[in-house]
Amino acid sequence: MISQMFTAFGRSLIEIGSYSTCRCQACSNIFELKLKVVAHSGEGLLNEVGGFSILSGIDTITVHRLLKNSVTLDEYVLMTEAAQRDLPFPAQAGMVEGSETYAIGTFKTFLYRPEYSTEFDEAAIRESFSDSNVAVKILRDEIQNEYTDVACDPSKGFHFNTGRRASEINEYAPEWIDFIPSEVLESFAGMGNPFSLGSLQPGEHVVDVGSGAGLDSLIAAQMVGVDGNVIGVEMTAAMIEKARAAVDTMGSGQVECREGFMESLPVPNDWADVVISNGCLNLAPDKSLVLGEMFRVLRPGGRLQIADVTALKPVPSEAKQDIDLWTH
Ligand SMILES: C[S@@+](CC[C@H](N)C(=O)[O-])C[C@H]1O[C@@H](n2cnc3c(N)ncnc32)[C@H](O)[C@@H]1O
Repeated sequence: MISQMFTAFGRSLIEIGSYSTCRCQACSNIFELKLKVVAHSGEGLLNEVGGFSILSGIDTITVHRLLKNSVTLDEYVLMTEAAQRDLPFPAQAGMVEGSETYAIGTFKTFLYRPEYSTEFDEAAIRESFSDSNVAVKILRDEIQNEYTDVACDPSKGFHFNTGRRASEINEYAPEWIDFIPSEVLESFAGMGNPFSLGSLQPGEHVVDVGSGAGLDSLIAAQMVGVDGNVIGVEMTAAMIEKARAAVDTMGSGQVECREGFMESLPVPNDWADVVISNGCLNLAPDKSLVLGEMFRVLRPGGRLQIADVTALKPVPSEAKQDIDLWTH
């Protein structure tokens, strides 16, 4: 169990270090971090002070004192006798008995140096996708920051086209956007025109993956009419808020904006006649996972209409790790 904890720590460092979000010295040296665990067991008093919960009492003081100890190893678990007795750590071979002395007393200790493999497959960890992967979380946070700006401060200026200009460049028909609220149009960040691959038919079910402020969902609603349904899936709260407000304003009851990730679409199997997406797939670290989700929600014979940027040659691993290249 202890080795698993240290292995998980080592793996997390690789995940965190996978995207260079910050260039400060501490972040640049993240791979130098070591894990030291000090464990004690006893009673604590939980006091509420000024809105904070503060743990106090002699056992709390003891464990704080033990953080300054005589151990010279750079990775270890140091347990007091009480921790060894009460915590579910199995006795480890190689545990060394010792003691630490402070003004509040002398404490018998058990020191353990974990044996664990530091041979990680770094490339595999970086590319593996899961919601708990810290690297994925960091990337999503950065993307959300960027698209919160597109929603809340659309005139700020971005490295991609936005607003009415983007709709003109991507040849959106004026009659599609005439009826769209200006709050939606100004936050349009599409990279192409998914409707250029074919119009949607009255009564169809449509999923818009990475629906942003809702322009494509609202155009799709116009095409499928009152007998159709459109589900927009989006992860950035400010975008969802804008899209929902527009749906209310326009009374487009057949459009629903769902909060969710493109990697696990909140849509049942075989629900959609058409999946559209505009500028979202390029933001996925694992594109095959997203394509698999799109395939899952499409009915047999359904259509996939994606507008996005494409790379004509493989993107080098170092470029994938530079978060600025994902968002700027
Ligand atoms: C380039 S914008 C395009 C938005 C919209 N399709 C449009 O044309 O205006 C990409 C959108 O995808 C969303 N997005 C990025 N990663 C996502 C994910 N993993 N799951 C759901 N939405 C995501 C972003 O929040 C952003 O709103």
